[in-house]
Amino acid sequence: MAKFLFVTDLDNTLVGDDQALEKLNKKLNQHRQEYDTKIVYITGRSLTLYQQLAQEKNLLIPDALVTAVGTEIYYHIGDDPDPNWSAQMTIGWDRELVINTASHFADLTPQSDTEQRPFKVSYFLSEVVAADVLFELENLLQKRGLNVKLIYSGSKDLDIIPRRGNKGAAMQFLRQHWGIEASQTVVCGDSGNDIALFSVDRERGIIVGNALPELLRWCEINPADYRYLAKSHYAAGILEGLYYFGFFK
Ligand code: GLC
Ligand code: MG
Repeated sequence: MAKFLFVTDLDNTLVGDDQALEKLNKKLNQHRQEYDTKIVYITGRSLTLYQQLAQEKNLLIPDALVTAVGTEIYYHIGDDPDPNWSAQMTIGWDRELVINTASHFADLTPQSDTEQRPFKVSYFLSEVVAADVLFELENLLQKRGLNVKLIYSGSKDLDIIPRRGNKGAAMQFLRQHWGIEASQTVVCGDSGNDIALFSVDRERGIIVGNALPELLRWCEINPADYRYLAKSHYAAGILEGLYYFGFFK
């Protein structure tokens, strides 16, 4: 067995089955001690909501924590986010203009204040009107010269973030930061905001058995032999995938 980079989404991927999480934590922690394997959590949550989850669930302390859909990277909680990454987020980003543009759409309801971040503006958007609203919003943002990305997840959450700020780009930044090959990297997810994680290079992908149709549909359209659809759910699905790819024996 050898060192690898373990990157996982939290809600409904790592977290969802406490017993399976215990089992996975034990294996991962052992692996980290023996081989210096790196553990990264990458989530849509803000740091505030991450800390809330960390109080409720038994999470290992990660080597890096990526919050707000890839727009903030922390190595130690309490420190400022990685300034090199933050500097990349500012390119083509105009937060006020994004908010102003979104305010023209009555179907967009702002999420709580904790989830509005320097490089992430988030709304609730009902699935019934989502396709039309996303189409029109994207057009208007483009017309105003905004180089942003719209990410719709779980049939309810809309995140607007800098084009460079997605989960995949943040994962790649860390992979290069630590000098770890794509083939020694594994990424895990369950929903729409994880798609970017599965589309960077040939990182090994684990899609947990409880993944949402939005991610499964994308996998069908973009088949790849370095991606594994687990049968088991949540952390048990991750464990299944880690054995499948030979990271665990
Ligand atoms: C988390 C965040 C929320 C975001 C969602 C999808 O729930 O708290 O702001 O919209 O993930 O990325
Ligand atoms: Mg999730």
